[in-house]
Amino acid sequence: MVEMIFISPFLFFLLFSLVPGDAISSNVTLLTLGDLWDTRGMTRTHLFPTKTSTVYPEFAAIPSNQGDGRMHLTRSALDKAIENVAEMNGVLIHSICSYRHLNVTFYTLNTMFGIGRSEVLIDANMTEMEKKMSEMTDRRIKVNFICVGANNDTYSAVWHHSPDFVWHFIVDSGPIREIIEKDRLQMTRGYYADCFQTYRNDNVSRAIIIWRKGFGKKYRIQYGTEVQEMLTDMQRTDLEPVQFASLPRLTQRKPFPRWILWHGDEFTWGNRTIPRDLSKMNHNWEALNSVIEHRMRSYDIPSISIHILRDNKMEYSASYGFADILQNIPVKTTHRYRIASVSKLITAMTIGELLADYEHIDLLTPVFGRNGILSDVCSPCHPFLLHVRIIHLLEHSSGAWPHTSKFEFDRMEQNQTEFLMRVVQKEFPILFPGGRHMYSNIGYILLGRIIEKVSGRSYEEYAMEKVLKPLGVNATIGKEGDPSEEVTYYSHDNANAYTSWSTRRLNSAAGWAMTAEDVTKVFHHLEEHKLRRFRWIITPSAVRWNYGRGVQLGNDGSLYHIGSLAGTEAIGYTWQNVQVAILTNIRGREQNEQTGWMEKLCRSIADGRFTR
Ligand SMILES: *[C@@H]1O[C@H](CO)[C@@H](O)[C@H](O)[C@H]1NC(C)=O
Ligand SMILES: *[C@@H]1O[C@H](CO)[C@@H](O)[C@H](O)[C@H]1NC(C)=O
Ligand SMILES: *[C@@H]1O[C@H](CO)[C@@H](O)[C@H](O)[C@H]1NC(C)=O
Ligand SMILES: *[C@@H]1O[C@H](CO)[C@@H](O)[C@H](O)[C@H]1NC(C)=O
Ligand SMILES: *[C@@H]1O[C@H](CO)[C@@H](O)[C@H](O)[C@H]1NC(C)=O
Ligand SMILES: *[C@@H]1O[C@H](CO)[C@@H](O)[C@H](O)[C@H]1NC(C)=O
Ligand SMILES: *[C@@H]1O[C@H](CO)[C@@H](O)[C@H](O)[C@H]1NC(C)=O
Ligand SMILES: *[C@@H]1O[C@H](CO)[C@@H](O)[C@H](O)[C@H]1NC(C)=O
Repeated sequence: MVEMIFISPFLFFLLFSLVPGDAISSNVTLLTLGDLWDTRGMTRTHLFPTKTSTVYPEFAAIPSNQGDGRMHLTRSALDKAIENVAEMNGVLIHSICSYRHLNVTFYTLNTMFGIGRSEVLIDANMTEMEKKMSEMTDRRIKVNFICVGANNDTYSAVWHHSPDFVWHFIVDSGPIREIIEKDRLQMTRGYYADCFQTYRNDNVSRAIIIWRKGFGKKYRIQYGTEVQEMLTDMQRTDLEPVQFASLPRLTQRKPFPRWILWHGDEFTWGNRTIPRDLSKMNHNWEALNSVIEHRMRSYDIPSISIHILRDNKMEYSASYGFADILQNIPVKTTHRYRIASVSKLITAMTIGELLADYEHIDLLTPVFGRNGILSDVCSPCHPFLLHVRIIHLLEHSSGAWPHTSKFEFDRMEQNQTEFLMRVVQKEFPILFPGGRHMYSNIGYILLGRIIEKVSGRSYEEYAMEKVLKPLGVNATIGKEGDPSEEVTYYSHDNANAYTSWSTRRLNSAAGWAMTAEDVTKVFHHLEEHKLRRFRWIITPSAVRWNYGRGVQLGNDGSLYHIGSLAGTEAIGYTWQNVQVAILTNIRGREQNEQTGWMEKLCRSIADGRFTR
């Protein structure tokens, strides 16, 4: 029996290379073993067992320009086919699933084009699977597909050693309903389902899923019982079927449950029209429009918001693109954006208000130790820390916790108090305070705690009341979720805007979300008071000529701050009578990919290049 169905994988490939590929169309066809018997597979088609019968196996055939599908491989034929793929250049294994036929386990194998090497684990139990999974994740090798075996509690998985950038991914399994619920959340966080397979265990219908980090990639996990109806429902969409999953029926009377995974394209502007909200425009500023649209197309920036004040009057206000790509929500000038480190100026201004309100503290008040404001954060403290004063935190010269150490980006589920206690007690300073500029988010998180400790209010409340509300600014921290008010964040790289950092943890360092107009109000306030109330803010620190306290100092007299964290690049800028804010809902492939041109653009605007 086993010998009879064995077919040399080599012969198999020869057979295939002679068959011309069909035109790819949006289609899923159910084919029986008999339909496929002669070729034992199809070119440019992926095959998935439908688990509808252990006597008459059936396969869902999905046209694929990625590669070929094969079926009815015994375990030894599968091993040979895997070896065969390993010897071919530019071909990887896409997926392996199994099914039972007449009490024997058989396998389907799909290939795909790609550079690198595939590694597989077949019919492993959960323990082995988890071990391998964490080993591969440590080696930064990405899992491509997981299928649950025909035999209960066995898994077959495929990994790709590939020179491509390793995109962030999440693997999960559980009852189908729970997985679908989690999927909605992951979708809003910029992940898409790239593998969705189902199985039944202990009479519970479960799914195993791999989400991959996308950039506004559209997809859908569609449930149904009749394939033809499912296809009809999707006819008007621009999605293509890529995968099929199914379950045996629970009782004779119930139909077979089936799922089709559909994918669309990743987001790109190409030469599509970029929507604009120019409602408040009062000049013909086509030159500036074209600069911004050019940047958006070159970097595939989903949206940009820009606001310009001249002589405290709105000169230009525009938002371009989509607040949310998947839902096609055009951005409005009233949308809030996270401003990342531009928040540091707000914290510095709030410290200014705090010192005015509470005369027993000043910029030289110690932070730690028995006489420090945050005496409870460490005890005993590292001896260097006893010399840290408020001003050191403001000018990034505490000598500890540089942002390059990334302590603030760990994934530990700790609230801010627990997080600070751990970092301050365990991560020792590098230098004596006041010695050198080492940009530190944690320094600014501590400033927020100082504000809370002294005022007895939350940082957000106190900053709103003392600084932002009087300016007519309505800002929030950690309220994202409503795409009609705040934009959705994207990121080209591995870092996820929603999971790689937390606006709540980084509240006083990088947490604020506000409109571009509101950012210009904050910078106008700075400009207005820079010679008196905020003189200390714009005074170069003792250790850095181009950084004051919460503000960057341009050599032409401009004052600005840039922000660049996963999901966001932003700038707030002032030069004499001109204030500019430029905000985006994406970070480039590298930190500060966008802020360079943003700063230059601010200078040109201040110079009057676009008004002449
Ligand atoms: C799907 O494929 C089947 C078989 O190849 C074909 O009969 C049918 O017309 C196709 N449907 C669509 C919508 O392309
Ligand atoms: C299926 O195979 C198992 C052993 O692999 C055997 O115990 C069982 O009797 C077989 N069942 C049938 C229906 O052949
Ligand atoms: C999984 O497989 C390994 C090796 O085959 C075995 O040692 C282990 O007991 C199995 N674990 C379970 C939970 O079946
Ligand atoms: C798999 O588990 C189901 C119950 O969850 C059981 O009825 C079935 O016999 C098992 N199959 C195998 C091959 O162990
Ligand atoms: C599994 O669930 C179905 C439907 O809920 C039920 O009819 C059946 O009795 C259950 N089987 C077992 C073994 O629990
Ligand atoms: C640009 O638009 C034209 C039609 O307006 C279209 O034919 C072409 O494919 C588009 N190119 C890109 C890269 O989207
Ligand atoms: C943070 O966690 C600690 C310990 O679990 C708890 O005592 C404290 O109340 C928490 N703080 C906040 C603000 O939730
Ligand atoms: C500020 O924004 C919040 C959230 O969008 C809104 O509920 C509130 O009404 C706004 N407050 C003012 C004063 O505009």
